[in-house]
Amino acid sequence: MSRPARTYLRRCREALKKVNPIRSVKGTRDLLPAETALWQRVEEEARRVFVAYNFREIRTPVLEPTVLFARSVGADTDIVTKEMYTFTDRDNESLTLRPEATASVVRAYLEHGLYNEGGIHKLYYMGPMFRRERPQKGRYRQFYQIGAEVLGSYHPSIDAEFLEMLVLFLERVGVRDFALLLNSVGCPKCRAEYVKALRRALERVKVDLCADCQRRAATNPLRVLDCKVEADQPIIEKLPHILEHLCPECQQHFDRVTGELKQRGVAYQITPRLVRGLDYYTRTTFEITSSVLGAQNALLGGGRYDGLAEMLGGPPTPGFGVAIGQDRLMLAVEQAAQLKGEDQLAAYVAWMGEQALPLAAQLAQDLRRQGISAELGYEPIKLKKSLSVANKLRARFAVIIGEGELASGRCQVKDMNTGQQEEVEPARIAQYLQEKLGKPSV
Ligand code: HAM
Repeated sequence: MSRPARTYLRRCREALKKVNPIRSVKGTRDLLPAETALWQRVEEEARRVFVAYNFREIRTPVLEPTVLFARSVGADTDIVTKEMYTFTDRDNESLTLRPEATASVVRAYLEHGLYNEGGIHKLYYMGPMFRRERPQKGRYRQFYQIGAEVLGSYHPSIDAEFLEMLVLFLERVGVRDFALLLNSVGCPKCRAEYVKALRRALERVKVDLCADCQRRAATNPLRVLDCKVEADQPIIEKLPHILEHLCPECQQHFDRVTGELKQRGVAYQITPRLVRGLDYYTRTTFEITSSVLGAQNALLGGGRYDGLAEMLGGPPTPGFGVAIGQDRLMLAVEQAAQLKGEDQLAAYVAWMGEQALPLAAQLAQDLRRQGISAELGYEPIKLKKSLSVANKLRARFAVIIGEGELASGRCQVKDMNTGQQEEVEPARIAQYLQEKLGKPSV
């Protein structure tokens, strides 16, 4: 390390001793390059699968009017009552950091009149979401979702095809140890009948439930089914099941979905308690859980939301979608260890003597323009030191330019894995590396 660099590091250490270092906000984290390579691979795979099923990307703001989530996710849900990051802006408007993106996608769909184009819209997104939950492994206050939504069709084939796509995606990223849990929460008509039956049953047992459930029994009895309190579980297990209360249309929809899943070879487990913690669902709901995740075992979740567009003031527009918890997915992918992050540097351009710098800089620029990752030393150093830097950077090749190379008009290219060295003309180096690497490295 050079002397200025050493002095700088010493000063940094001294400064850190004087003031308390600033740390990231609780429940948020930095993803460092050792992790991001694999995150990018997973995102690429998601994009590939979505595009294969004809989805297109949508990007919506992180900041939304608070009322969007109160109206869609539901005013009595845990997300809205306890977990949103909400603040009053300077013009007195209440704003919220999005806790999920389905509401935002439907808002954007309505705001831009995409329904006027007719047909089905298939949209996907990726990005950070914010919920003030108690942080633990797989649960963060800023977390990441990869999501997809289909707007414009009531057809049960949409549900089945979508679930088939999710299974394909998980297979592609090497996650095999998972279970698809499936349910129907009916439509407002049959659900109202079910809720009446649930209320009656809850009347009899609610004194034995937790304080939250006693409140939910009065305000939103379906939410009792999401309760995670251990002592409540045996009581909740005995409550009536929604699948026994579906109207003929919802029953037919559910039967078509399960029938098509069988045809498509997608395995599922019917799970009548799966009502999900958001109010906008109708008919199909699902989650995929993975035993490798521990307590926070829901890898992804979603379902149908045929009434959401109307709840947000738009024309009737059916919808179906998913959000994959990317932080949890990454834990499962690391366990499966099939994908590897491709972060290897292709070339380190080592130059000796100031007169070699212009050619080295030109060469590095050429390589980068052709999509070959390259690093250029910034100070003149000896060959041995350069090669040790190349090693430290895990470069696949070192391109060496010194006095001899300048005189001969040819560079030495050293394969850092095998140690073999070849002479190559500067103009041919990009092509030479491309052939050796098999493809552009970035
Ligand atoms: P959700 O079930 O609230 O659904 O979230 C989906 C997934 O996000 C969960 O299964 C989990 O993997 C992940 N997740 C949720 N909260 C956290 C957290 N605090 N930390 C880490 N991961 C978390 C939705 O968000 C709906 N918008 C899904 C949907 C799309 N429904 C229809 N379309």
